Parts: sequence; C-alpha cells; structure tokens
Amino acid sequence: MNIDIDLEKIETKGFLDIEIDPTLDLFEEINKLKKEKNAVILAHFYQDGDIQDIADYIGDSLGLAQNAAKTDADMIVFAGVHFMAETAKILNPTRKVVLPDLNAGCSLADSAPADAFRKFKEKYPDHIVVSYINCTADIKALSDIICTSSNAKAIIDSIPEEQPIIFAPDKNLGAYINKVTGRNMVLWNGSCMVHEIFSLEKILRLKTRHPEAKVLAHPECEEAVLKASDFIGSTTQILKYAQNDDCQTFIVVTETGILHQMMKDSPHKTFIPAPPDNGCACNDCPHMKLNTLEKLYLCMKYEQPELLMDETILIAAKKPIERMLEISRQAGLIGG
Ligand code: 13P
Ligand code: SF4
Repeated sequence: MNIDIDLEKIETKGFLDIEIDPTLDLFEEINKLKKEKNAVILAHFYQDGDIQDIADYIGDSLGLAQNAAKTDADMIVFAGVHFMAETAKILNPTRKVVLPDLNAGCSLADSAPADAFRKFKEKYPDHIVVSYINCTADIKALSDIICTSSNAKAIIDSIPEEQPIIFAPDKNLGAYINKVTGRNMVLWNGSCMVHEIFSLEKILRLKTRHPEAKVLAHPECEEAVLKASDFIGSTTQILKYAQNDDCQTFIVVTETGILHQMMKDSPHKTFIPAPPDNGCACNDCPHMKLNTLEKLYLCMKYEQPELLMDETILIAAKKPIERMLEISRQAGLIGG
C-alpha cells in the first residue's frame, strides 16, 4: 500500500484534509479496490443512495449482522454507524473492519452509558437483559440476548413467560414489544433522535390531504405515531410491505435513506417522507449521513479508520449476538 498521508490523523480527525482528484470515477475506483483487497461493502438502508448502489449488500440491522457473520472477505467496509461496525468486528475478530467515518455514532446507543446501565441492572437481579442491537459493545457485553427491530418479537416470545426481562436501550421499541407480546418488560429510558422527532400533527394533516395513503412507521417512533400507522416494521419489513401492497401512496415514518430503495423497487408508487416536528423539511440521521462516497473510497484505499476493540468486551459481546442469530435461524427470520 502506498501511504503518503498521516494515518494517525485519519484515525482521530477523519479524512477532512484529504483532497480527491475530482476527475476520478469513484464508482470505478471503489470497485477496483474491492477486488484488489478482497473487500466487502455492507451498507444500511439509511446510507446515501450512491453508497447503497455501490454496496455488495444493503440491509437492515439483522440482515447486516447475518451477512457479517458469513463473510469470507479480508476486509469488511461498514457503511453504517459505529455500533453496526462493532457488531461486524465482534463476529469477525480476525478480519479487518473499516468504516468511512469513525464519528458516525448513534443517539440511541449514546443514551445507555455502560456504568449507569450496570447500576440499573443491579436493581433487577432476577431479570435477564435483552438489548436492541443499537447499543454499544459494552452494553452488549452486559446483555443476555440481542435483538433487532426485525426479530424483537420473536426473541421475546422465545423467552419463558415467567422470566422477567429488562429491555434496553430503546423505550419506544420496548413499549411496542410489550404491547404486542403482552409482556411487562422493564424499559431503559433511551430513544433515537430521528424517530422521536416526527410530528403526529403533521402526519395526520398529510393523511387528510392524501386519504388514499398508508402510513408506514419504524417501531423506534413514539406510541402516538405508531397508533396512527397502518404498518409498523423494521426498514426491511417496511420496504417489503410497500413493494407488495396494492396501495400506491405511502407516508414513510423513518429515516429518509430508505426512500432510495423504495423508489427503485416501486418506481410507479408515491413515497412521502413524514415531516419532523421542527422547521426543517428533512429527517436524516446526522450520524448515518456522516458517511459519503468520498470517505468510503478513502477508507478503502488507506484501510483506515480501522475499528479496533477491547478483547474482553469483544468476547463478552459475542455470546448475546450469537444467541440472537441462533434464535433467528430457528425462527426462519432473515433480515433483508
Ligand atoms: P433496522 O435496520 O433494524 O430497521 O433499524 C433501523 C435503525 O435505526 C438503524 O439505526
Ligand atoms: Fe441511531 Fe437513530 Fe441514527 Fe439509527 S437513525 S443510527 S437509531 S440515531
């Protein structure tokens, strides 16, 4: 590898100072790097359209974890956020995992600091911990089973009814799962900044203007928004619903990145992004959108920033993820 830049600086500050020749065809260069380095690009549906188009696999959190678990690539390039790349590393401790921007975090993962969660857990010694995959590796290491929005119900249903459960960190997904399973899980008080910002009032107004439209919402949204929805599901489930349903117009209550695949899958249908409760017309996840095609190219070229993890945490966090993969396999659940 021909390195003429300060790799340590990339590690801490990212690729801010590095210029790319504007005449380069980044799609072609990225494809070349993929072959040269035997790399695989895994991307979440909330990434920019360009990144989704160059990825080897685009999916929801479950699909991404399942694909990370079976890859034989030498380098995993994770176009998503930090906790997703961590999951890929936990499942592939000997492979190199790089991500376009090390600062691509998650407000939901940040809402559960490990020390505070450890103390919270101590108050419920007879409870087991089910954590949503949108949490740090430290929280995963303190958990018994991980779940995603695709398999949360199946995971909870697999636990004996008399077993008390702590669900962390998303209180909205936890409350929704309590409702559909009839459980009374103790909920950690965390949430996603993107899904909490949708305005019920504006969604209802949109519904009045488009009475033919169906409202599709992610379970990270607040209860009032979920109540006003026609379908609730993970990104993949929302995508499939829009593809297969006869309805022609959908109000989409999740991050805008998903619209790229929706429009590709069903170009003749109309997708209206639900408005947030602020002056802005967009509802992008600021963490997901830190990744750009340029940074993706640079991270593959320089193989930086690389995700490195503490060995003890890595080992402890692997068990609950493997339990999730096993329960999902038994239930025939495959993320998209
Ligand atoms: P899913 O990919 O499980 O739908 O979750 C969405 C999300 O918030 C990822 O950050
Ligand atoms: Fe985290 Fe929400 Fe962004 Fe997903 S959309 S990465 S949960 S902040």
